This record gives sequence, C-alpha cells and structure tokens, in this order.
Amino acid sequence: MKKFAVLGHGVVGSGVVELFYKNKANIEKHAGSEMDIKYILDLRDFPDSPYKEKFTKNFDDILNDDEVTAVAECMGGVEPAFTFIKKLLENGKSVSTSNKELVAKKGDILLKTAMEHNCNFFFEASVGGAIPIIRPLHRCLAANDITKVAGILNGTTNFILTKMYNDNMPFDEALALAQKLGYAEKDPTADIEGHDACRKICIISSLVFGKHVYPDSVFTKGISDIQLCDVSSADMLGYSIKLIATVSRNENGKILPVVMPMLVPSENIIAGVIDVFNAVLVYGDGIDQTMFYGRGAGKLPTASAVLGDVIESVKHNVTVFSQSWDSAEDDSFIDTVENFKARWYLRTPSANTPSTGIGNTYDVHEDGSEYAFVTEEVLTFAQVKNIAEEVKAIAVMPVLD
Ligand code: HSE
Repeated sequence: MKKFAVLGHGVVGSGVVELFYKNKANIEKHAGSEMDIKYILDLRDFPDSPYKEKFTKNFDDILNDDEVTAVAECMGGVEPAFTFIKKLLENGKSVSTSNKELVAKKGDILLKTAMEHNCNFFFEASVGGAIPIIRPLHRCLAANDITKVAGILNGTTNFILTKMYNDNMPFDEALALAQKLGYAEKDPTADIEGHDACRKICIISSLVFGKHVYPDSVFTKGISDIQLCDVSSADMLGYSIKLIATVSRNENGKILPVVMPMLVPSENIIAGVIDVFNAVLVYGDGIDQTMFYGRGAGKLPTASAVLGDVIESVKHNVTVFSQSWDSAEDDSFIDTVENFKARWYLRTPSANTPSTGIGNTYDVHEDGSEYAFVTEEVLTFAQVKNIAEEVKAIAVMPVLD
C-alpha cells in the first residue's frame, strides 16, 4: 500500500481527492500498487467532507510519517509551499505540484534537492493544466533539437478573449465569469497581466534550454488594455487576438522568451483554440511541429495532471534526471526583447500614415477617426517602437506567423 498526502484543499486539491477516489481502482492498476490518501493539509475545517478524518492542520504529521512516500502540493504561492516541499524532499518524499509560481521562481533549487535525496519533484500540472507537455518535452521529444515553443498557456485570458470575440462581451464581465467558473487565480492580475503565462513559459524555457529562466527576465504584457475594437479590427484583417507565450533560440545563440497579446492568422490552428483551452506548439528538427491541446485550467483537468505525477512518484523510486535544469548565475543567455521580430498590428489616428509598407487597412470606427493595419515587413520590436511613435499608435501587437 502506497500512501500519499495532499497539501491544500482548494480548487485543485479538492479535485485531486475527488478524482483519486472516483478512479482509485484504475489509478492503482497504473501505479502497480494499492494506494490511499493518508492526510489532507488545510487550515480550514471541512466538517461535511466524506474524508474529514484525513484532514490535518499540522504539516509535521505528514513530514514525519514514514508511511507517506508521495505528496501532492496544491496550495499555490511561494511560501509556505517552498519550505514545506524542500523539507519533504529532504526527507525523501517525492512531491508533485500544480504551483507554477513556485516552479518558475524556485524550481532549480527544488530539483537539486530532489536529486540529492533520490526522490522526485514533478510539476506536469504547472503548465497547460490537463495537457501533458512537461514529460513529452524531456522524454518523447528528447531526440530533437528544440528551437521554439509557442502557445496559449493561460485559460482565463483565452476564455476572456473568446467571450470578447464571440459575444462582444466587455472585458470585466468576461473576467467575472472566468472567476465564477474557477479558472482565474485568486488574484486575477496574475492572469490578465500575463504573469501566469510568464511563469509557465519560464518553466518550459528552463526545461528545454537547460538553465533557469526567472520571471523577472521575461518581457510580459497582458490583455487588460485590449479593446473590443482591436478584437473586431483584427478579425476584419483576418486574425484572432490571443495571449501568446513563446520562447525561441535566436541566431545569436541566446533564447528569447516573451508573453504578449498577438494576432494569430485565422488559418493558424492556434486561432481555433477557444475558451479555457490551451495549446502548445513545439518546433524541433526531427518533429517539425507538434501541437499539444487541452483544457488549461479547472479543477479536474489540473487534478488529472497532479495525479499522473503522483502515480509516477509511486512507480519511480529513483530521480528522473532528464527533468531538470541548472541554476542561472545571470540572464546573459536571454536576448533583449528589442530583437523580437514579427509583422506588427497598429491602430492609429487616421491622420497619421507611417513610412513603412502597410498592406490592407481597416477603418476602426464609423466616423473614420482611426485605422488599423498590419505591417508588410518583419520588423524588430525596436524598429516598430519608432514607427509607433511616428504615427502616435494607440495599440501595437505582433503577429504570430
Ligand atoms: N489561472 C490559470 C489559467 C489556471 O487560467 O490558465 C491554470 O494554471
């Protein structure tokens, strides 16, 4: 019998408990062993829970119980999660987490601790919710030279942008609905300002390129200033607006991770990814392109990924070395965002015409006061900033080609 504990009984933690007991027989078959949850850690009381006897408020009950060999961390935030996980790993207990903020900020330290104590720190649920992406990147795709990863990594913003596009729903109303459905973070700033997607692209960048990429090193812009008129102008020009997180290795050998709202051509498969769904495109020399798609947020989708890792923890009693990266002494291996290249969407007052080729234009308002266009040329961020200044652009976004 393998026993595990669940830290936190919020949306994801309660989903882990629910899905485990729903599919216990099947999970045990995959794990090759009988399994049970011994503890659920939460400071709140759950007197009506069918599992109320498993609740504890004392972390040491879990830390000091030799019967517990694996732990699912679903508390979120850096502290006390970091301190708890480090102690668990030092005691040889493998930990599976859905906590992207923690992995993005402290993953290198926890991976090293797991290695030193012959156990595992798994984090499949931290990127893309239900989508298997971490394990495929370091296992199934390990034979490739991966040069770029790009995609939609935040369900809340994709849900909001879909509501704006399909239903003409104002931003605030769509955000309130996402919160009601349990998609958004406790503080929705992390979703709408791109911090959540930033953390996820940090994790992917670190895993793919082998050095820890910290959130502070990543240019991040969210969707809070996107107007309904940008959504409709982009549509008329043949694009959908999506919050895209991307990392690529540039010609100078440096990597460039960024998070920005981008215009996705309507024929691109990513444009059809709607609601809370996420999609990740991986580019490698063997595979060309492979896309991973699924529910990127929500109780059971995230719980599915956490439990997949718990099952792996039960099966593996040695550290999985391929799922690791080094700490970074500085961020000199990260390119400046000024070198980010794309074609660009600009919305600008009609009186101003730029000196660059602009292709089709679209009159944004009936009174002809503003127009929108996409540059014909690929330009760096540094170049487009000059053009934006020249035409007094109101909105500037890259195109994902
Ligand atoms: N708030 C996150 C999202 C949850 O909307 O994608 C999953 O990480």
